[in-house]
Amino acid sequence: MRHVKLGTLDVSRIGLGCMGMSAFYSGINEDDDASTATIHRAVELGVTFFDTAEMYGPYTNERLVGAALRDHRDDVVIATKGGTYRHIGPNAGERGIDGSAANIRAAVEGSLERLGTDRIDLYYQHRPDPNTPIEETAGVFKKLIEEGKILHYGLSEAAPDRIRAAHAVHPVTAVQTEYSLWTRDPEEAVLPAVRELGIGFVPYSPLGRGFLTGKYRDPAQFDSEDFRRANPRFSDENFRANLAIVDEVERIAKEADATPAQVAIAWVLSKGDDLAPIPGTKRIERLEENLAADSLVLTADQLAALDALQPAAGDRYPDMSSVNI
Ligand SMILES: NC(=O)c1ccc[n+]([C@@H]2O[C@H](COP(=O)([O-])OP(=O)(O)OC[C@H]3O[C@@H](n4cnc5c(N)ncnc54)[C@H](OP(=O)(O)O)[C@@H]3O)[C@@H](O)[C@H]2O)c1
Repeated sequence: MRHVKLGTLDVSRIGLGCMGMSAFYSGINEDDDASTATIHRAVELGVTFFDTAEMYGPYTNERLVGAALRDHRDDVVIATKGGTYRHIGPNAGERGIDGSAANIRAAVEGSLERLGTDRIDLYYQHRPDPNTPIEETAGVFKKLIEEGKILHYGLSEAAPDRIRAAHAVHPVTAVQTEYSLWTRDPEEAVLPAVRELGIGFVPYSPLGRGFLTGKYRDPAQFDSEDFRRANPRFSDENFRANLAIVDEVERIAKEADATPAQVAIAWVLSKGDDLAPIPGTKRIERLEENLAADSLVLTADQLAALDALQPAAGDRYPDMSSVNI
């Protein structure tokens, strides 16, 4: 597995997104042993970059990931996120965006305890907080780094102005935002900004939340509890329109003697040596399939055909007010 640098942080260029092991997608929490085995197989195959968050579960995913990686702690990068639960004040325990210094500090202490570690390699603000100056949030990250509780910090779904303001307080290591064949938004402003500043980029949902793998051809395949049922891209009408994207990915996969998932990941990887996508799976066989994208090289014609795909029909969240701000 090749490695890349996110800022100064060395990671395998394909990471493992652990969210779906505990939250949001069908089949959660059915089999923590299988999830743990998937994490262990990822380590065996050279993955050093694992992504979790306090809100996955909430809280259970950090415990799962921390326990699975305990014997590999010094060999891996654990990335987690916080700031979408309140840990202080009258609403403590409730969901809510709070990037204040006191809340972030409390969130980091909670993550350290659940992960069973003395330091978090990369800690992201999960969502921008419009009510707290980013200078305050970046300021507490700087202090937490000085104290050794976190080693690097990042921002998820922040827009360029916010990224620049945070970076001026203390260098940002990585920005994590949705980026895939059907989500090209970061190309316009976020990617140019992070490249100018020397910040790494972590594309999340590189498989389009599974859609780009071609394994889902009907929204009814998702349980009623599944996040995708309420996602505009997966509404009956948009889902049908978006199948044209998958058809083209499948065509290229056949030509490249690869799977659609591998094509989707290889396309993201082709976008630079300063990014590390984190495809998510809780199954060993899919993990192995996805990691093989590290050695898939698409031709210029194949990349051009993928670049020419129409972006998805439908917003990527039911409520877009807290992303890319
Ligand atoms: N910062 C943020 O706000 C944010 C938001 C979303 C996600 N994330 C992070 O990004 C990671 C990845 O994103 P994601 O999980 O949303 O989406 P993704 O990686 O685009 O897709 C994951 C989905 O695809 C399925 N899948 C994976 N490999 C497959 C394959 N080879 N064939 C068929 N299906 C496959 C998984 O199911 P199985 O698990 O059943 O295999 C899961 O349902 C998450 O785990 C999380 O760590 C961050």
